[in-house]
Amino acid sequence: MPPHTIILDTDPGIDDAMALFLALRSPEITILGLTTVFGNSTVEATTRNALNLLHVAERTDIPVARGAAQPLVLPLGETGEFVHGQDAMGDIGWTDVLAPYLKPVDQPAAQFIAEQVMANPGQITLVAIGPLTNLALALQLEPRIAQAVRSVVIMGGSVVAPGNVSPTAEANIYNDPHAAELVFGAGWALTMVGLDVTTAVRMDEPRFAALRASASPLGRFVGQIAPRYQQFHRERYGYQNGTVDVHDPSAIAYLIDPSLFAGQAWRMVVPVDGPARGTTIADRHGHFLSTPKVNCLVEVDAPRVLDLIQARLSA
Ligand code: BDR
Ligand code: CA
Repeated sequence: MPPHTIILDTDPGIDDAMALFLALRSPEITILGLTTVFGNSTVEATTRNALNLLHVAERTDIPVARGAAQPLVLPLGETGEFVHGQDAMGDIGWTDVLAPYLKPVDQPAAQFIAEQVMANPGQITLVAIGPLTNLALALQLEPRIAQAVRSVVIMGGSVVAPGNVSPTAEANIYNDPHAAELVFGAGWALTMVGLDVTTAVRMDEPRFAALRASASPLGRFVGQIAPRYQQFHRERYGYQNGTVDVHDPSAIAYLIDPSLFAGQAWRMVVPVDGPARGTTIADRHGHFLSTPKVNCLVEVDAPRVLDLIQARLSA
């Protein structure tokens, strides 16, 4: 399998930062660019965070294209500061870019995605770890990206695990269900890294403490931003010992080593409103005939994923 060339569509976000750093520390992955989206905070804040994270990682050669400030159809709802802190980066006090030269490129995210995919047919994997608005806008701008892309991997949704923002919906899908409907319907090679696997990958305080004590600046940074995320998991879910769900890095772990996961392809629908808004309904017994099949990851070797993340982030 040749290395993956990816565009990382992201709303950083504590676990987005972990995912980005994992990708940056993985020889299997080349990042062509970051595209930003509202979600864990406003797009202003997530774009600032994306630029700052690349600065921390000394990888400001990677372009950042700013994306959607709101969902396709719905008004902007509550953003994720209640999980990720006021700066969406663990309350480390980021209010501005860390250096004046840190700027997004002139192109909007959807245009960046469409142009890059069309210029590199069969080469690019889109990895989306926030609401799917930018991918949907790119599809609207250039529908041929559905054939030109190599594959699409999203962190979002769930087959049987309970939702994390409603009884059945996962946040990234819930936050823009109309975009998710387009992305799930596009007919491209789509893998869903959903709550079925990401809530099974649980990282605890000893692992964060080891990152904090590591020689790696990226590992130490993750150790610094983790406490706010640990607090949320303790208060919301009663998790003990500083344990958190490892959502976004699991999507990167899948790219690095798909053998860590097992999945099954099912046809999917995504209701856009009502109590099931943003639920990813998998047709496990073949009742729907028309919607495309999505590769849904449902099993994971969690200890090996955690070992991979820890090894890469502390190297
Ligand atoms: C997803 O929502 C966001 O808070 C996380 O960054 C992750 O992408 C988990 O539901
Ligand atoms: Ca995210």
